[in-house]
This record gives sequence, C-alpha cells and structure tokens, in this order.
Amino acid sequence: MKAEADQNLIVYFGGKYVPLHEARVGILTHALHYGTGVFEGIRGYWNEGEQQLFLVRPVEHYERWKQNCGILRIGVAESAEQLSEITAELARRNGFRTDIYVRPLAYKSAERVGVRTDDKDAFAVVALPFGAYLPDKGLHAGVSSWRRLEDNAIPARGKICGAYVNSVLASDDARQAGFDEALLLNENGQVAEGATCNIFMVRKGKLITPSVTENVLEGITRDSVMELARRELGVEITERAIDRSELYVCDELFLTGTAVGVSAVVRVDHRQVGDGEIGAVTREVRRLYFEAVHGKLPAYRKWVVPALAARTEAELQAVGGGETAQGR
Ligand SMILES: Cc1ncc(COP(=O)(O)O)c(C=O)c1O
Repeated sequence: MKAEADQNLIVYFGGKYVPLHEARVGILTHALHYGTGVFEGIRGYWNEGEQQLFLVRPVEHYERWKQNCGILRIGVAESAEQLSEITAELARRNGFRTDIYVRPLAYKSAERVGVRTDDKDAFAVVALPFGAYLPDKGLHAGVSSWRRLEDNAIPARGKICGAYVNSVLASDDARQAGFDEALLLNENGQVAEGATCNIFMVRKGKLITPSVTENVLEGITRDSVMELARRELGVEITERAIDRSELYVCDELFLTGTAVGVSAVVRVDHRQVGDGEIGAVTREVRRLYFEAVHGKLPAYRKWVVPALAARTEAELQAVGGGETAQGR
C-alpha cells in the first residue's frame, strides 16, 4: 500500500507536535547524503468493539530503536516509555480511528559535506493511517540475486537507513519479475530473510527460522510469533541456517513483520510450496497474531498499549461495542 500523508498530519519533530508541512530538513543533512539514520516501524490496530487504538509492543520497538541508534552513535535522550507516550499523543492529536503505522526516525542532522559525524542528532516520529502492506493472499516469493548485507559491512539488525538500499534493490527486482516479495540469501548462500520481513518454514510440523546471527533483523513480530506458536500451538521451533533448496521442499512458508503481519507464501521461484494452499500452522499463527495485536487475546494484552483514553461501558454501548477482551 502507498502511504502518502496528508500535509496537515500532526507529527513529532524538533521536540514539538507540528503539521507535516512544517517538518522539513535541509538539503545538506548528513543522513540524506550518507544514510546515517536509524528507523523503526510500529503498528497500531483499531479495535472497533472497544473503540480503542492498540499500539503493538511500542516499548520493545523503542528499546530496539535506541539500541540500534547506538550502532551509529545517535543519542535519543527520551526513554522508550516516553517515546511510547509521544506516539499515543500523536494518535490522539490526529484523531485516528483506523489502523496506523508509526515511523520513528533518528538521524545525523549536521548540515555539511563529509562523512565524519559529529554530535548533531535529531529524531522525528510520524504516524499514518495504514492498511495491508502486502496483498492479502498466498504470496509468490522469489529468491533475489542480491545478497543480504553482511554484519561487518552494515549490520542488518540495525534498521539503518542506508542499509535499506539492499532491500529496495531486491524488492524492486522481485516486483519487476512478477513476485510479491524478495527473499535474500546471506553471503553463505543460506536464507536470511525477506526484503522487509523475517521468514519461517514448516517442515514435518516444526517451525524453522534463521537465527539472529544470519544477518537478519531481530524482528519483534518474529518474537511474538515464536511465543504464540510455542505456547498456544505447542509447536517446536528451531533457529538454524536454512538452505535455499529447503524452501522448495518445505510444507509451509510464511513471512513476519510489523508491516506484513503474518503473510503466507504459497509459491517460491515458480514452485508450489506444500500443496499450494495456505497451510494449517500458518493459518493458526496468522489468526492468533491478528487477534493478539487487536487486543483480543487476554493472555497477550501485555503486548498492546491503548493509545486513546478508555471509554466507559455506556459510551461503548452507544457506538455498538462494549465487549472487552477481559469480558470474553
Ligand atoms: C529487513 C527486515 N526484516 C525483518 C523485519 C521484521 O521486523 P519486525 O517484526 O520487528 O517489524 C523488518 C521490518 O521492519 C525488516 O525491514
């Protein structure tokens, strides 16, 4: 989906809440030339019954962001909890009553030429209405001829702006070739991840995903899915290297990420995955994840943070809701 924002959208920039058209950077900004920014992606899901917008694991996302900023020595003084509150305030000020995507971006902000960095850092947080990122169907993924970045070149775990040229090249190629998403191999020739997502394979009822040392992003959705699969479905999970050819002989394949959610892959490189239909494990993981991030699973309310003030039961009845997760 294309997320082109309304210029009057309220964003957090320079320590203030301002309209998007006022949030501008200069042409000589270091990050614009050298990719020296670190971004995050956080989802908010609208729950109609509760009239509530749930931010998904915002504190964990901001903790990861602050750690990743450290890779580039970008300082963000605010705590993960304060950043989460800024995000909730953006949702309130924009009056969102829909699913959203939140894009925090911290960057080297000095306006001069030269790769040398100094202590000038800045950050912004933008929240936008946002629907599905990938088509809501079984996907056709293609293994890219572009290799995943090596940790000793640009760390893939860092969500570093410049590193995403790697994802853009792979994703663009894949789409030109008619695929829905690109799968990248690392320099060892083993499967790393998708251009914007982590990957899971099902073989003989077990889940397998590359470990966090295979040049992948340490996905928060990956972590959520692993907990759901283990605890709710009793599925065994192994983190290990995956050969390319295992993608061709596995029973099920799915992608996970903040933007993509849990998306089934039913064809890889023009070969059918399993029986070519969305498999049972994928279907269940997808259902559980969808319910959890909408605040509908009491055991996983720990993952969602309400952005709006809680409504009274009478207010909920008036809009036809009133069924809370706890009440179910
Ligand atoms: C390259 C890459 N891998 C994996 C992911 C999934 O990470 P998460 O689940 O934390 O969104 C993303 C999404 O941001 C990504 O860009």
